[in-house]
Amino acid sequence: MKVRKAVFPVAGLGTRFLPATKALPKEMLPVVDIPLIQYAVEEALNSGIEQIIFVTGRGKTALENHFDRSVELENILKSKNKEDTLKVVEAIVPETGTIIYTRQNEPLGLGHAIWCARDVVGDEPFAVLLADDLIKSKEPVLKQMLQRFNRLRASMVAVMEVAKEETNKYGIIDGKDIEDNVVDIQALIEKPDPESAPSNLAAIGRYILTPEIFNILGEKKRGAGNEIQLTDAMEILLKKQPVFGYRFDGTRFDCGDKAGFLMANIAFAMERDDLAPQIKEFFK
Ligand code: UTP
Repeated sequence: MKVRKAVFPVAGLGTRFLPATKALPKEMLPVVDIPLIQYAVEEALNSGIEQIIFVTGRGKTALENHFDRSVELENILKSKNKEDTLKVVEAIVPETGTIIYTRQNEPLGLGHAIWCARDVVGDEPFAVLLADDLIKSKEPVLKQMLQRFNRLRASMVAVMEVAKEETNKYGIIDGKDIEDNVVDIQALIEKPDPESAPSNLAAIGRYILTPEIFNILGEKKRGAGNEIQLTDAMEILLKKQPVFGYRFDGTRFDCGDKAGFLMANIAFAMERDDLAPQIKEFFK
């Protein structure tokens, strides 16, 4: 079955980015002039995804408004002959009905947020994108993964090597390479200390999951940080069916972290003809 649906968990509190995220959803932080969530939604749509499922929470209405029309703004842009800006604003809004919203009424963890989408997803494989993992790549990373998924027909997570001393920030993989860029995962450990980590291969925020994951998440077992962790559920899943890691082609920025967010802004600005000369001059 084709992967048609993508879940975007956006109900987290973004505590690492306070005070900016006190009233503003973390996923609305802009890299140059585009909010993180828009990059992720565009990645999904450009990968062939047909339905966007947002798992939101309290204080996230800015996200919903961003993907809706603003007739007043459009009229003002029209009256001022700002046709180019009008096109940019109109292009954000997918065809009506493409986005479905559901709520996580308590931020109990990423695994729990995904479980909240169980009835909207139903009994079919689906993608998960974490907007704060922004990836700069020629081909959308989800598209790269879907190509492999269509052949391997098993759950998959994007993986990358991280510094050994940073394993305690990630879900870490124990596995063997089976083909170009594909790792057969034997074990997944949430945030292990560098001394106990089986490798420095980390799972990052792009997944394709089979619907069996919902039964496991439904048991609501708490893990690291007393949260319902997706990594723990995947660890159980891989005892029942294969789970693969995919070494993606691209550069990932951790935009949930201040340093990663600033680096993303610089990297994306340096690719813009209207900004690069000024930025280069400033760095000089
Ligand atoms: P993070 O692990 O970055 O957590 O979530 P967070 O709460 O947003 O941020 P910090 O760690 O407090 O700074 C990864 C993604 O999962 C979502 C977040 O919105 C983010 O997109 N998430 C996390 C939920 O939707 N619900 C949760 O309970 C936790």
